[in-house]
Amino acid sequence: MVESFVGRRVSLTTDKLLFEGTFASAKPWQNVEGLIEFPDKVCGLKILDVGAGGSDMIAHLLERGAEAYAIDPLYTSWSRVKGEVRKTLAKLEKRRAGDQKWEEFIRCQHEALERFVESAKCNPDHYKPAFASELPFPDNYFDLVFSINCVCQYLDINFGTLLAAVNECLRVLKPGGTVQLFPFRDVFLPPGQRNNSDEDYEKRYWARRRNQGFLLEALEQNPSLSFVVLPASGANHKNLAISKI
Ligand SMILES: C[S@@+](CC[C@H](N)C(=O)[O-])C[C@H]1O[C@@H](n2cnc3c(N)ncnc32)[C@H](O)[C@@H]1O
Repeated sequence: MVESFVGRRVSLTTDKLLFEGTFASAKPWQNVEGLIEFPDKVCGLKILDVGAGGSDMIAHLLERGAEAYAIDPLYTSWSRVKGEVRKTLAKLEKRRAGDQKWEEFIRCQHEALERFVESAKCNPDHYKPAFASELPFPDNYFDLVFSINCVCQYLDINFGTLLAAVNECLRVLKPGGTVQLFPFRDVFLPPGQRNNSDEDYEKRYWARRRNQGFLLEALEQNPSLSFVVLPASGANHKNLAISKI
């Protein structure tokens, strides 16, 4: 249990249940860097990627001199991450066969996964097995905490898990730092554009939308936080940026 930023206590267990229903991916730096507003110079900054899967974001940030970390419950072994991402990519390969744009995106994810494994083997302390609701870092540690397709898209299915994750991100964030969550206020995608053909998509979409609205209401009540919903470059969806004053 953690102390919520809205002054309530929230359960830490439901996100562990939701974890079973998530798909692992390995989005490459070049495809997703525009979704997050990175400072021009990241050298020396402390940065955390929450629910990073097999993405190579942290590999790139480490190369640029950032003190960057990733967490994901999958990080109990690198072969587990590889196996889960490859399972997702194999499904996508079938579903998107013949679509050149997707085929290229899937190829880039395989490459990003290789870069991830190489980086994780060289920098094991920077890739920690953890849930978003129990981040293994001290208070006020990071300049930037971001999450792509994890806190929003999966944990926002349930308001308790969303709040627990956002509370933890804010706990480890320094005053003056920013938490950025993507996709926020995402558009309702027509069937051909969805990543999965899950029949529950519509139900989940509206639950997520409602929970995101509750989160904004909770944030509005906290005078030590400010937030803005920004268009993310190169995407239909938006990014929620929360600053700790
Ligand atoms: C769709 S993938 C996104 C991975 C990466 N951010 C990317 O963009 O390629 C979702 C990731 O969230 C992770 N995840 C699921 N539940 C989580 C939780 N409660 N806390 C942290 N990560 C979680 C999954 O293991 C998975 O790797």
